[in-house]
Amino acid sequence: MKYATQTLLERIRREGRVEGEVIKVDRFLNHMVDPQLIDLLAADIATHFTEKAIEKVLTAETSGIMLAQAVAGMLGVSFVYAKKKRPLTMGQHYAAASYSFTKEESTTLYVAKEVLRPKERVLFIDDFFAKGSTLKAIEEIIDQAEAMLVGSAVIINKSQRRDIYAIVTLDDLRS
Ligand code: G4P
Repeated sequence: MKYATQTLLERIRREGRVEGEVIKVDRFLNHMVDPQLIDLLAADIATHFTEKAIEKVLTAETSGIMLAQAVAGMLGVSFVYAKKKRPLTMGQHYAAASYSFTKEESTTLYVAKEVLRPKERVLFIDDFFAKGSTLKAIEEIIDQAEAMLVGSAVIINKSQRRDIYAIVTLDDLRS
């Protein structure tokens, strides 16, 4: 098992909780945040995508931001976080709706046209992959921009989709 996976599993066992389908990681990932752990996870992801000529990292507010920043820094590119509220200052933009099954609410993601360009090679980053609704909205935005989704990576993949690069899967947590 790779080091990042082993380290994260230990943290979840020591400081987190698995409550059915919900994994509590508030003490080190998405409320209180351990930046050294984020860097370790980001290094694993950046190494995996190092040969893919990524030009931009894309995530959604809020919890994906810390990881996206770390991965983008390691790949030497900028990252964009899709906003859940459109600021009045945002001019021309792309938008797509996403329904969160975990939070039982619908949100719209907004990305300004000036920060995502046609043909750009994009890596999607998030903390969790659950039902894929965030990624679906991000894919719509990438299509609107005529950019290219080159890969997707998350910290914890709760689905059976294996095309999403993940540090930990539900199977890892249950074994
Ligand atoms: P999906 O995008 O893959 O379909 O996932 P889903 O709608 O089910 O969940 C989306 C939101 O719920 C995400 O936050 C995600 O971080 C959070 N989430 C999903 N599963 C878990 C879990 O097991 N544990 C914890 N702690 N969070 C989970 P968000 O609504 O996009 O926003 P934000 O919290 O990042 O602001």
